[in-house]
Amino acid sequence: MLDHEARARDLLPAHISAYYGATAGSGGGSAEGIAAWSAVRFRPRALVDLSTIDTATAVLGTPVSMPVLVAPMAQQLGAHPEGEAAMGRAVATAGSLLGVSTNTAVPFADVAATGAPWWFQVYVTRDHSLTELLVQRAVEAGARALVLTVDMLALLPPDVNPRSWPESPARSRMTNLTASELAAADPHAVEMDPAISFDTVGWLHRISGLPVLVKGILRADDAARAVDAGAAGVVVSTHGGRRLGPSVPTAAALPEVVAAVGGDAEVYADSGIRSAEHVAAALALGARAVFVGRPALWALAADGADGVRAVLTGLHTDLQQVMTQLGVARIADFSPDLVSGAR
Ligand code: FNR
Repeated sequence: MLDHEARARDLLPAHISAYYGATAGSGGGSAEGIAAWSAVRFRPRALVDLSTIDTATAVLGTPVSMPVLVAPMAQQLGAHPEGEAAMGRAVATAGSLLGVSTNTAVPFADVAATGAPWWFQVYVTRDHSLTELLVQRAVEAGARALVLTVDMLALLPPDVNPRSWPESPARSRMTNLTASELAAADPHAVEMDPAISFDTVGWLHRISGLPVLVKGILRADDAARAVDAGAAGVVVSTHGGRRLGPSVPTAAALPEVVAAVGGDAEVYADSGIRSAEHVAAALALGARAVFVGRPALWALAADGADGVRAVLTGLHTDLQQVMTQLGVARIADFSPDLVSGAR
């Protein structure tokens, strides 16, 4: 996976690789997130029947071949001329699921045509009617859930901000809104609404009829409020270290969130997942599945859909191996006793 990053950085214009690799503040959040997953220590089980290792599971009712999904990431046309459509083809072949960002510049129909199941990630715009239009179009195109992202991005410096890219606004535009809808809106209408609340969860559920996940949760109390507000689940995430450099890593936040809502809702995790051992750590700590972000994006840039397929199938094969070594035959057999100190 790391060689995809090095090759992608060689191939991509500097402003795009800077945006993909960016972390918040003084940096370090991404590396610390990775290190926290690597620090988890396992207590493997002995003498388990391992004649069949089955990685299949379901996420909000959608069957997937493994509990590894691809995170919603903006600006994928910067990595590949087909962006999320190429990403989706790889995801479909791997039997995984794709998160599609509000800031995609690829039509929903092209994502849907890949056959990959997908969830639409929502940033609520200041003008809520634009969000409502986007959500309706995502529903019509077959999105199976909404992912409301609540960790507002730290302001990226101008040299890594897509709004200052030479190709903007074409490449960063919300293509799923028409040019006339965007032109009719106030210039600030598409900015993120800084005043959203837990009530937004119920609103999104009402206008879409879809389950809603809340992404960017790092605390038990917020997780409980999200679920009380109607969320079907939460994603424990630091946005890949892009929200706030010195925040608690997701491996450390996951157990309290699972303890708070794991019985009532599905808990997902991302930020720093780089290996099947990291996937296994998250599952043992109570995650239903994980998302990978940058590894898929760098692979898309370096090798297109084939690169992403290689990342996902590599993680799948490695997960079977790690499960064998842990003494875990099925995803449902992951539990906290597999991890030292987490019982
Ligand atoms: C993101 N992420 C993100 N999340 C989101 O909810 N909406 C978005 O539009 C984006 N855009 C985005 C762009 C880029 C370039 C990156 C790297 C990330 C965050 C993403 O969904 C996920 O939380 C992290 O990428 C996971 O961390 P890793 O796997 O990259 O360490």
